[in-house]
Amino acid sequence: MNIIHISAECYPAAKAGGLGDVVGALPKYLNRAGHKATVILPNYKTEWLKKADSDFIYEGKAPFGADIVPFTVHRVKKSVLGFELYLVDIPGRFDRAGVYTDPWSGHAYWDEMERFFTFQIAALEWLHSLDAPPDVIHCHDHHTGLIPFMMKECFRFEKFRDIPSVLTIHNGEYQGKYSSENYSYLPAFNLERVGMLDWDGAMNCLAAGIKSAWRVTTVSEGYMEELLHYCHGLELLLQQEEQKTIGIVNGIDVDVWDPEKDSYLPKNYTVKTIKSGKKANKKELCKIFNLNEKRPLFSFIGRLVLEKGADLIPELIERCHEEGVEASFLVLGTGDPSLHTLFKKMESEYVGYFDSRLEYNEGLAHQIYAGSDYLMMPSRVEPCGLNQFYAMRYGTIPVVRKIGGLADTVIDLDEKEGYGLVFEEFATEPFLEVIKRGVELYDKKELFSRCRENVMKLDFSWSSSTDKYIHLYKSIQPKKPVS
Ligand code: GLC
Repeated sequence: MNIIHISAECYPAAKAGGLGDVVGALPKYLNRAGHKATVILPNYKTEWLKKADSDFIYEGKAPFGADIVPFTVHRVKKSVLGFELYLVDIPGRFDRAGVYTDPWSGHAYWDEMERFFTFQIAALEWLHSLDAPPDVIHCHDHHTGLIPFMMKECFRFEKFRDIPSVLTIHNGEYQGKYSSENYSYLPAFNLERVGMLDWDGAMNCLAAGIKSAWRVTTVSEGYMEELLHYCHGLELLLQQEEQKTIGIVNGIDVDVWDPEKDSYLPKNYTVKTIKSGKKANKKELCKIFNLNEKRPLFSFIGRLVLEKGADLIPELIERCHEEGVEASFLVLGTGDPSLHTLFKKMESEYVGYFDSRLEYNEGLAHQIYAGSDYLMMPSRVEPCGLNQFYAMRYGTIPVVRKIGGLADTVIDLDEKEGYGLVFEEFATEPFLEVIKRGVELYDKKELFSRCRENVMKLDFSWSSSTDKYIHLYKSIQPKKPVS
């Protein structure tokens, strides 16, 4: 099959979160399974893309309301990432370093609507010019939610009417809502269908994608269930469309995330050398952050936002410190400016007990997975979560809240065949209790070693989920007439 992914992120070219990891891995595994999967991405000015070697492929014009937007398409060869990457270059819109936000100010770009509308129209314009139509167009999140709509409804894209489309919701919190009159920026369509773009009195790109795509997937079964009950106002729509929804859990790219070969690590290791490997990595990490390597190290990696429950961490640390819990804490990430201020203040209050690095740092993230004993994920919402998989691959035990994909993928140690630490209610007290369980476990050296080995042996690679996607793509292929 010929599968086209259209996305705002794709690791390592452009990544802001887990969406980038998924779009940077799934197409590679689809190719390995014998299909042709490619990715279409905006040509941002990220460090990776500035250096990327690409060939010019196409020059075109995208209609955008009364304007005509010139664009070009460039290709990064398959040998680089394991799939062909097509870059849509729209001067003035994407020639910036950030994906969604300006890295210098931390603010979201003001022209999100113009950026992603023109990207989607340009991507379809280019695909339209190709002779062979794809078998499936797979879109991701609201930034590409208008594609299934345009494929079905826009006159100039009539050719795509019978091509199946899939929309994956990686995060229902963000929906791409704009005022209703913005529909006029899209290429002409039958205005009787304008309601397909609308939800609750606004143009809603995620809703338009849910209504128009042939299938809607989310990144875990648990999250799919949750969305039917709460999705920031879209729950009724999802209930109506339930028949076409399916939850498929993400996997991880085990080539990129491999403690045996990871070049970011001071010392590589396997499950056989886990003891010395983790010890050496922890030693280096504790040296950088001035932490006591004898104590269990609990880390948090990710965006410092409410969704990830990052606001629970300051109080947790304060309580642990007050109660004399013998542990160390480390935070890596960026996000809410008020949390930045708080963590900065805590760095000086809890020297030797807590430290943070408030930046996006891929290499340091790898080192933290390798050097920590536990990874904390106290998320309020978690569609799938990938960090728990990365942690386990590096022999680090996940400490998670029972929600969404975390509930599906981490079983508490007290349960049959359990391997992680899980708490339920979003509150400091249960979080604190589970941390204390982690400290106790750490002191039972034998048991702790066994637990680490167990998590490292688990398989969270893409193999089984890739098969599920292939099955899904096949199930929606139009039946060919029997000749
Ligand atoms: C989003 C979600 C995360 C998920 C990722 C990839 O970042 O918040 O839970 O793993 O997308 O699907």
